[in-house]
Amino acid sequence: MTEKEKFIGVFDSGIGGLTVVKSIVETMPNENIIYFGDTAHVPYGTRSKEQIIEYVLSDVKFLSRFNIKAIVIACNTADSAARDKVEEKYSNIPVYGVVSPASKKAAELTKNKKIGVIATNATVNSGAYEKTIRSFNPNAQVISLACPLLVPLVEEGRFKKGDQVIEEVLREYLTPLKEQGIDTLVLGCTHYPLLYDIITEIMGTKVTVISSSIAAAEELKKGLDERNLLSELSQSERKYFVSDNAEDFEKHALIFMGNALGGTVEQVDIEE
Ligand code: DGL
Repeated sequence: MTEKEKFIGVFDSGIGGLTVVKSIVETMPNENIIYFGDTAHVPYGTRSKEQIIEYVLSDVKFLSRFNIKAIVIACNTADSAARDKVEEKYSNIPVYGVVSPASKKAAELTKNKKIGVIATNATVNSGAYEKTIRSFNPNAQVISLACPLLVPLVEEGRFKKGDQVIEEVLREYLTPLKEQGIDTLVLGCTHYPLLYDIITEIMGTKVTVISSSIAAAEELKKGLDERNLLSELSQSERKYFVSDNAEDFEKHALIFMGNALGGTVEQVDIEE
């Protein structure tokens, strides 16, 4: 296996990272992908930083058993809490995430320098988005809002336009952000791209909505290209591993991938 043919190792707390895989497949259909979803410990977004770091390091340890050319932290919560730890421990493999690409895009696109970020409790409490957005645009004002009801609602299938419950919850979360005059809104959670249509409708045409999953795939492509690591394969392989309930993962995967998984799902004990 050449360097270019090696797998991109992607991980998330569970199933949400599939929105990142979806974007990777759309931008780079020829890449071999290994995905790990820590479904035994999902959600990460309600946990402490110390606990998230511990889980993340086990996730990456599992991925590092494979022939991987890059690590993608496809979870905003994991990226916010543990990015530096992963980079420290795996300095020989390039590490990509979701927070930096989405922050960069927001910092570049805002005109009035007022940027909203919606995410899990852990991501908001980490302050990672504020810090990263300001590193790209020091004058930006970042208004972050934790939206803890959104992950469980999306996982329960309540994400479709016309669903009164999700529409009402989103209106309640987003109206104050809209009233503060933001012109850019970052969807800082893997689950939120599924709510894109409802969110853009509520925010109106003057607000640019950025999906961290799409931004991550774009930045990954750029990074692999710069390192001369883009695959030239005509046929690619995808393998999915989860720490619990493979059947449930497979059943719900279509919602997040918008398409077939394109590979097998296997349950593994990563502590082994
Ligand atoms: N994947 C997480 C994120 O992007 C959402 C789910 C969780 O809380 O684990 O923040």
